[in-house]
Amino acid sequence: MKVGFIGTGSMGSILIEAFIQSGVLESKQIVVTNRTIAKAQRLAEQHPGLHVAASVAETTRLSHIVFICVKPHEFKRVVNEIATVVTPDQLVVSITSPILIEQLENSLPCKVAKIIPSIANYVQSGASICMYGSRIGTEDRLLLEQLMISISQPIVISEQHTRITSDICSCGPAFLALFVQKWIDAAVERTGIDYSEATRLACEMVLGTGKLLTEGKLTPEQLQQRVAVPGGITAEALHLLQHKLDGVFHQLIDVTHGKFQEDLEKVKKLWSET
Ligand SMILES: NC(=O)c1ccc[n+]([C@@H]2O[C@H](COP(=O)([O-])OP(=O)(O)OC[C@H]3O[C@@H](n4cnc5c(N)ncnc54)[C@H](OP(=O)(O)O)[C@@H]3O)[C@@H](O)[C@H]2O)c1
Repeated sequence: MKVGFIGTGSMGSILIEAFIQSGVLESKQIVVTNRTIAKAQRLAEQHPGLHVAASVAETTRLSHIVFICVKPHEFKRVVNEIATVVTPDQLVVSITSPILIEQLENSLPCKVAKIIPSIANYVQSGASICMYGSRIGTEDRLLLEQLMISISQPIVISEQHTRITSDICSCGPAFLALFVQKWIDAAVERTGIDYSEATRLACEMVLGTGKLLTEGKLTPEQLQQRVAVPGGITAEALHLLQHKLDGVFHQLIDVTHGKFQEDLEKVKKLWSET
């Protein structure tokens, strides 16, 4: 089986590296192309055997599954090129949230899925969000999930929840990293602790917390209860955080969903023009 990647920017190359590192794909099973072809060639230098195709059409012709890893405004041009060569038995996967499955199915004769990965997949961790088009059969799902499970926990969702699930799974690592960064900065400023020491402690703490919430099967509420004794230091600080964060996540969701709506409109316009 050959797997193609159109776009070897940040997320395209993360997926390729993760699939190779997990062992689910060998370099020789991977075909890539990129607008700036030197970027794809650099990837091939790091992974001998990986095939650099000269165009989107060639990548599609050579692959059973094609991942489209370009930005929303670049998407329609790529779909138009794929449409000239793709066949009904092939699988095309979008990793871009504002491109609708319906738009893809209307433009392409093949099987279509939308899978939103996360930067955490780079270290074979985190979730990936899977949505399937109407032409996807059981075997296709198994094939895609076999790929995704090698680097993530694939979770099937309904497309109407694309944005909120992407907020949590895909944007979440950046939000959590900001929380950690702010905490480290304050710790250095207030106490004079060494920056790298505070960073190491914070990162190990995030890893351990993630394990407790997954392997350890604690819920977020249970974890707080286990650490905070009534009247203790943690309880007091949790009270402060509860108060300060009140409403913040509602606002965050309003922001991400507002921007998503704008992106959907832009994509719709582009789709109707080209
Ligand atoms: N970053 C994340 O954590 C993340 C997570 C989940 C999903 N995503 C989604 O992944 C998509 C890509 O994001 P990204 O961060 O990887 O963007 P990026 O770094 O800008 O990568 C996009 C790549 O696509 C290439 N490209 C554009 N048009 C092309 C064309 N016609 N033919 C071939 N290659 C083309 C670009 O080539 P050039 O080198 O010429 O610019 C660039 O390397 C976005 O829709 C994003 O929403 C990202």
